[in-house]
Amino acid sequence: MTKPFIQDLVNDMTLEEKLAQLTQLGPHYWGLDDTVDLTGPFKELNIKPQVMENIGSVLNGIGARNVIDLQTRHLQASRQKIPLLFMADVIHGYRTILPIPLAIGCSFDMEACERFAEIAAKESAAAGIHLTFSPMTDLVRDPRWGRVMETSGEDPYLNARVTESMVRGYQGKDLKEKGRIAACVKHFAGYGAPEGGREYNTVDMSLGVLREFYLPAYKAAVDAGVAMVMAAFNTIDRIPASGNSKLLRGILREEWGFNGVTIADFNSVNELIPHGAAEDGREAAEKSLAAGLDIEMMSTHYLNYGAGLVEEGKLDISLIDEAVVRVLELKDALGLFDNPFKDADPLVDEAPTPSVENLQAARELGTSSVVLLKNDNNALPLKHGMKIGLAGPFATSIHVLGGWSGTEKDPAVSLYNGISQKTSAADIITAMTGELGSMLEGVFDVEDEIEEAFQRLKDCDVILAAVGENQQDTGEGGSKTNLRLSTNQEKLIWRLKDTGKKIVTIVFSGRPLELKPILEASDALLQAWFLGTESGNSLADVLFGDYNPSGRLSMSFPYSVGQIPVYYNAYQTGRPYDPLYPNVRYVTRYLDCPNDPLFCFGYGLSYSSFDYSNFNVDAADQVVASIEVENTSDIAGKETVQLYIHDVSASVVRPVKELKAFQQITLAAHEKQVVSFEITREMLMFYGKDDQLVFEPGEFDIMIGRNSGDHFTQRIWIG
Ligand code: IFM
Repeated sequence: MTKPFIQDLVNDMTLEEKLAQLTQLGPHYWGLDDTVDLTGPFKELNIKPQVMENIGSVLNGIGARNVIDLQTRHLQASRQKIPLLFMADVIHGYRTILPIPLAIGCSFDMEACERFAEIAAKESAAAGIHLTFSPMTDLVRDPRWGRVMETSGEDPYLNARVTESMVRGYQGKDLKEKGRIAACVKHFAGYGAPEGGREYNTVDMSLGVLREFYLPAYKAAVDAGVAMVMAAFNTIDRIPASGNSKLLRGILREEWGFNGVTIADFNSVNELIPHGAAEDGREAAEKSLAAGLDIEMMSTHYLNYGAGLVEEGKLDISLIDEAVVRVLELKDALGLFDNPFKDADPLVDEAPTPSVENLQAARELGTSSVVLLKNDNNALPLKHGMKIGLAGPFATSIHVLGGWSGTEKDPAVSLYNGISQKTSAADIITAMTGELGSMLEGVFDVEDEIEEAFQRLKDCDVILAAVGENQQDTGEGGSKTNLRLSTNQEKLIWRLKDTGKKIVTIVFSGRPLELKPILEASDALLQAWFLGTESGNSLADVLFGDYNPSGRLSMSFPYSVGQIPVYYNAYQTGRPYDPLYPNVRYVTRYLDCPNDPLFCFGYGLSYSSFDYSNFNVDAADQVVASIEVENTSDIAGKETVQLYIHDVSASVVRPVKELKAFQQITLAAHEKQVVSFEITREMLMFYGKDDQLVFEPGEFDIMIGRNSGDHFTQRIWIG
């Protein structure tokens, strides 16, 4: 039921005022600077001042002082005194930059994901932000795409759990609460699957694939009460999402019952024209409004053509009215009619440093995000008192916040600075630390500097090679076809290996890189991602064993680019590859590369070792699968026990395995624990031939293990 005061406002609005309410512009249209990158065209729109007085929301206009100033001016000018809604891209923290979402997904820790969003919400609320364009929950299978850094990876179940935790963390129970902001799940739908990993490219998939893999996480956001949904740039079944009524009205509103606000992506209403789905701005506005897209972002076709479309009878005014009601309801839910500045607080926002608690939380979130990929002969953890060599472009770099980190107001803690908190500076010897250029080679030349480096590093007990990709090469517009480390970084690692010392390679990246070429040269390999402000401290905690690594990969790491897309939950084929007969030719395989990735989904090591035994599936009353996990080491550690299921035969082809649950357990040295999972009917359901969720009795493989490639399996019949 619409509140009477909202209905009164709508009844009192002119059509022009309504259309302005459905338009979002950047702060430069009010004469302010944009503090975040413009990710699309900026046009001088020559909007009349009376129209500006009624615009509904601001994109990326942040900073408590700016918000208070602009809101005050706006309310003075606005006839109906409707407050502006300030929305921004707070992707992994606002002031305290947190690990990139792909990394926090690796924590498999839902409390951590909720905390992540809570910290971001608190800081952004103080900066005057009312809504963040997060979580980005697009499922991804192609690390060539730069935006994989912004998602939680390749698995629908994990994405859904991360997404609902983040929505809870941002929004809390009541958007009016201090420190809470509204969340906007994006990009609905399927934006994570551009062909060839090329940004903004066509997305083409069957409805079954969309339902099975891509939609569950958006749905989880809706079920968790997300306030807003952003339409994607791409097409779904040949229709751009921003003008796609099957998606925005059919699936989102009618099927899932979403009654919040929908918003275009930057200029995406206008982009119906280059897509070839609308002849001009008039048709673009007609299609988007008819499809149920409430707010147009950074283009003005609603403003320019909406009234004409209504007058010509091409658009029912009720479509515009219902969109305006939804926008006003969101403003009301945030309490803006009573307090238009909400939590904007210049004193907090402009504090000289982020709060100590938030920095501590960021450090902890960072430690749970890193993934130990290799650790031969216990090269890690480092021991106090060791002489540590530190080389490579990320050894002393502070450019490790990761993309979408706003103004970089506070520099990140470098690896060097983190390590020097743990050991005396005299025990850290640096060499060849020249920074990395964007996508190109580092500025250093390995051969020029290696002799001197050998001299410097000759007394070290271990050498840390800090390598990776430039943070600018990730995020929106960051697609690449070459995922290897730059040639000189690969050379650096191999030349360091010539010293005969233990080499610990630490990889900073926003995506899975191709690590096979340096795997043999590395005694230990640590995937550091981009961990944000506390990066160096989190890494030092892990390197010295103050935190026992527990991250598990949320996305597969390919052997080579040629293997992409490579992901664990692929459909069965008619000619499966059988590892027992590796030389059979006419099966699905490559001649020059394994089918499996280098490191699979769910993979990650610990300084502890865990044994799995006594796997059992009991199908008496309910179906319960259990396994005993024992920490066989002398160190306490955290293990993520994973449950996968495979439907052996069904009316539509099923994935070879699907993650259905996981449990994180902490075991003291030599402690054992039985971990059980109830196999529910819901876990066994899927979208059948008729696009309906079905359960089909039959045989299922139940798998429990440490990752998607290493588990016990038992086949049972479930009716
Ligand atoms: O939120 C973003 C979106 O993810 C990509 N295009 C721009 C939007 C607003 O900045």
